[in-house]
Amino acid sequence: MPKKPTADIPYLKPCAITDALRKQVAEELPEVAQIGDTSLRQKVVEAWAFALAHSSFKSIRQIPPAGNPDTNEAKRGDQTDHLRGVTRLAVAIAAEMGTAYPELAIDMDVIVAGGLVHDVGKAWEFDPVNRKRWKANQKETGRPSIRHPAFGAHICLTVGLPEEVAHIAMAHSGEGELLVRSLECMIVHQADYTFWNTLLAGGQLKPDTVPPQTRKYITDRPF
Ligand SMILES: [Fe+2]
Repeated sequence: MPKKPTADIPYLKPCAITDALRKQVAEELPEVAQIGDTSLRQKVVEAWAFALAHSSFKSIRQIPPAGNPDTNEAKRGDQTDHLRGVTRLAVAIAAEMGTAYPELAIDMDVIVAGGLVHDVGKAWEFDPVNRKRWKANQKETGRPSIRHPAFGAHICLTVGLPEEVAHIAMAHSGEGELLVRSLECMIVHQADYTFWNTLLAGGQLKPDTVPPQTRKYITDRPF
């Protein structure tokens, strides 16, 4: 059993998931309207509403525009800019490749849904309350205890999203190197890395958040 009291964990004392919260999520992620399947569209909104209600964040906009906590953070914007940008990039890749190679039979609903929820676990991993806990109890909890891809897959499955979408949350990042990505997951993964690498090469990431292995791209670095 955990040695520390867990009552302060936002996930364990969630706020109500209200229609007002669902409406706010749909407004923050307008690309959700591109999902043709009504049930899938509703569950994408539900995933983010569930994630926010089980965190300290009241809005996706309160989550910093970073790939990982304090790492690769854009100089401006917020997490909705990342989610929406990755979704639109993934749609563009899928449209181009799907036109050139129709036999790929890309599922565009899965692309849009996967793009919008691929980082839904950031409401957990970026939560200041969790980060403070993990820093103070690293020996017991690990830091983080669970990265956003795994937690995102948990959220997706909890709200009833299909396995194909939960897989995108699970495998869009480094975790995907441990398994074989689906076609739609590979497209979202490439869109995700394109988003951050474009900002990196263009000098639009905060220099002090860029990891050592890619600091050669930073021209205004303070070191
Ligand atoms: Fe991402």
